[in-house]
Amino acid sequence: DDAGRPAGPLAGRRVLVSAGGTREPLDPVRFLGNRSSGKQGAALARAAADAGADVTLVAAHMDVPAPEGARVVSVGSALDLREAMLAEAPGADVVIMAAAVADFRPSEPQASKIKKRDDAADPVITLVRNPDVLVELVQRRNDAEPGQLIVGFAAETGDDASSALDYGRAKLARKGCELLVLNEVGDDATGSERVFGRDSNSVLILARDGEPEHAAGSKDEVAAAVVRRITCELAARTT
Ligand code: CTP
Ligand code: CA
Repeated sequence: DDAGRPAGPLAGRRVLVSAGGTREPLDPVRFLGNRSSGKQGAALARAAADAGADVTLVAAHMDVPAPEGARVVSVGSALDLREAMLAEAPGADVVIMAAAVADFRPSEPQASKIKKRDDAADPVITLVRNPDVLVELVQRRNDAEPGQLIVGFAAETGDDASSALDYGRAKLARKGCELLVLNEVGDDATGSERVFGRDSNSVLILARDGEPEHAAGSKDEVAAAVVRRITCELAARTT
């Protein structure tokens, strides 16, 4: 009797998604942040839940509510996000790193509020590298859980040296994940912001081999396309 059991192509699958943007503390009231709204990550979590998956969302300062049906773990900084992802990853069939993780954090966050002082030099903020959570998740998977499918995200701009697509391909190889969802960011020809905070998106889904798959539309439509692709990859493994 299947009554009450979730239906859908990802029924019985555990999907772990990170979303939003981390905040790196400077002092108790200030942080270094980024412009990620969490909309695309929330849409991915919703699409995975709609496909029947058991979804955990590791949420860093999202501007939008988490979708119903996802279990939410709230985090603040990149180090918090790392800890939550490494704790939740065991047993997940799919891990999606949609969060914008700060590459650097202030090396010495102050325990009390930084004050202006007339008798001392203006402060200088020194930064240190944050760990690469996606790379750590891939390493953990390779060591402990080879069947887990890991999906990264990248926002790239082209420049004189390379196209955004070439940077995306290089990043996919460097990270060691199976899929990389590539966004071209920056101002478009009309000067308006292309990705951050917007409701629509246009991406290329890159795999280690094969042609990139284009997906465009609302962030929900893009999320549905990414989840369809994930479903195909999982199906290809079990047959
Ligand atoms: N990522 C991560 N941990 C970090 C930085 C990034 O897990 N400290 C993840 C992001 O969640 C994303 C992927 O890595 O899934 C690519 O992020 P991106 O910022 O494009 O890559 P970086 O390796 O940080 O390279 P860049 O110098 O281009 O920012
Ligand atoms: Ca980065």
